[in-house]
Amino acid sequence: MIINKCLFPAAGYGTRFLPATKAVPKEMLPILTKPLLQYGVEEALSAGISNMAIVTGRGKRSIEDHFDKAFELEYQLIENSKKDYIKKINDITDAATFTYVRQKEMLGLGHAILSGQPLIGNEPFAVNLADDLCINENGENILFEMITIFNKYHCSVIAIEEVPDDQTHKYGIISGKLLNNSDNTFQVDSLIEKPAKNQSPSNLAIIGRYILTPDIFEILKTTKPGKSGEIQITDALIKQAKNGKVLAYKHQSKRFDCGSIEGFVNATNYLALKKGIIK
Ligand code: G1P
Repeated sequence: MIINKCLFPAAGYGTRFLPATKAVPKEMLPILTKPLLQYGVEEALSAGISNMAIVTGRGKRSIEDHFDKAFELEYQLIENSKKDYIKKINDITDAATFTYVRQKEMLGLGHAILSGQPLIGNEPFAVNLADDLCINENGENILFEMITIFNKYHCSVIAIEEVPDDQTHKYGIISGKLLNNSDNTFQVDSLIEKPAKNQSPSNLAIIGRYILTPDIFEILKTTKPGKSGEIQITDALIKQAKNGKVLAYKHQSKRFDCGSIEGFVNATNYLALKKGIIK
């Protein structure tokens, strides 16, 4: 089994970024000169995945345009002797294939993933929530590492990190025990979506990277709405965990929560400093 496809749920409203997200999908907001979603696509590409399956919604057409050819723009760039830019706009389009499906109703992350089933079919796949921007500092790649773990254990793998106790209510949280110290894996016993304060089973928070086995689709079909009345991927994973089929990988990347304004600004500053754009 190899991981051929990466699913990108990208149908949310981006309410926290209004008015910017009134007409622009939040996944298209740029960190420096690249839209958030492109960072996710590049991460998947460098993990060896070239099929990008994107779950969009109404008002998200610019995502499709972004990953398509732009002949008029290319023509203008050639005419104006700005050929160097052509590589910038074509590299990603040429390197990957993109398929799309629309999530018709916003019924939660689990529902968004289920909406992607026609694009994925019956094979294990990666999920990337582009809001969680992972900067891979020393050449490592979080998705690649998760695929390596998947290839060893053949079950769902979710990325986790330790968060402060007062932040656990913002995440899905796992309970489990260390499985293998050398590859930073935990055997997941159970999970809970955004536990109430002081009721978290641990401070190991799920972040937006998953490798899922395809049985998750059948589970999602019968998963009832949970936290916030939404169909949660966390709840579906409980069923797999009960059968010992979910591992958590404590990742080593630098992560920015770009779904929050603070995280978005921090990511921008971090990359601008790193690239020497600001001092
Ligand atoms: C989603 C998941 C949550 C996870 C988080 C990571 O929540 O439901 O379990 O911890 O992504 O970013 P959201 O941030 O979409 O509310």
